[in-house]
Amino acid sequence: MALTGRPKVSIIGAGNVGATLAMRVAESELADVVMVDIVEGMPQGKALDLSEARPIVGNDVTIVGTNDYALIEGSDIVVTTSGVPRKPGMSRDDLIEINSKIAKDVAEKIKQYAPDAIIIQVANPLDAITYVIAEITQVPKHRIMGMAGILDTARYRYFIAEKLGVSVKDVFGVVLGGHGDSMVPLPRLTTVGGVPLPELLPADEIEAIVERTRKGGAEIVSLLKTGSAYYAPSAATWEMVKAIIKDEKRILPVAAYLDGQYGIEGLFVGVLAVLGKEGVEKIWEVPLKPEELEALKASAEHVRELVKKVDELGIL
Ligand code: NAI
Ligand code: 2OP
Repeated sequence: MALTGRPKVSIIGAGNVGATLAMRVAESELADVVMVDIVEGMPQGKALDLSEARPIVGNDVTIVGTNDYALIEGSDIVVTTSGVPRKPGMSRDDLIEINSKIAKDVAEKIKQYAPDAIIIQVANPLDAITYVIAEITQVPKHRIMGMAGILDTARYRYFIAEKLGVSVKDVFGVVLGGHGDSMVPLPRLTTVGGVPLPELLPADEIEAIVERTRKGGAEIVSLLKTGSAYYAPSAATWEMVKAIIKDEKRILPVAAYLDGQYGIEGLFVGVLAVLGKEGVEKIWEVPLKPEELEALKASAEHVRELVKKVDELGIL
């Protein structure tokens, strides 16, 4: 791959999320892109197709597709989307065994070829697979994080904006916890044009939005029938890539390693964090009410059970 002096983002898994992310990174000229997949010809074909769009879109980034992990060498960021998506009726947790094994292979390659990269992990079950990749690569914990909170929060914000008939841009919200049914949307900290959500909608309507957010991934799976969401997930991952490459110090919800924050120890769980060129530069601890903290801890306990299942597979 020709050196261009631009940042380099490698995406493992050139499927729906990976290839759409490649397009977003290229079209915003954030970085050169390498897509790696095990399927022969597919990442090459998608990279060629994306490159042929460049004269129309008008960007000069380099986009490479390959089956050879050696090409990820020198990456600033590696994004892992390599994993099987769920089918209708499956939970994200049902993917634990198959995706842990894929994650192990991928993590070994990252360790070999791009040990200094910041890792953004996307495959499901999100929090547990992030643990697998962190264990195998042994990258410093602030240099690996999972993508889920931005997606869950985007769904929540969209549902609120739709309900109130206002711009999504004016809805601020936050969803903490693991990427699963136990996630913790926080209506108390949600504002629309600066006004707290509980002052704008009755409790039962807020609860319906919270429930729809929790089941947001499954709603898309049941409509698509094959595969899961990828437009919003790739947009969420792009926002993380941008925050790191541009050293934006954005406060974003990501699955970050907790070392005692919120009383949670040794797990990747969705929390607010400051993202910049070093990765997770600070966990942004939000003062929570007792019942909110309890919900976050319950969600973390669910992640701990999944991590236990990974440990029982004996692959680490
Ligand atoms: P997809 O099936 O379209 O793409 C996955 C790609 O990974 C495939 O092209 C496959 O060939 C590749 N792959 C499998 N093993 C590999 C390996 N060892 N090395 C390199 N590539 C490998 O699936 P999609 O829709 O892109 O989703 C990917 C993963 O991301 C799934 O586990 C899905 O559940 C998860 N996901 C997570 C989200 C989140 O919020 N964290 C949101 C959306 C998807
Ligand atoms: C989602 O929430 C599949 O986890 C993914 O859409």
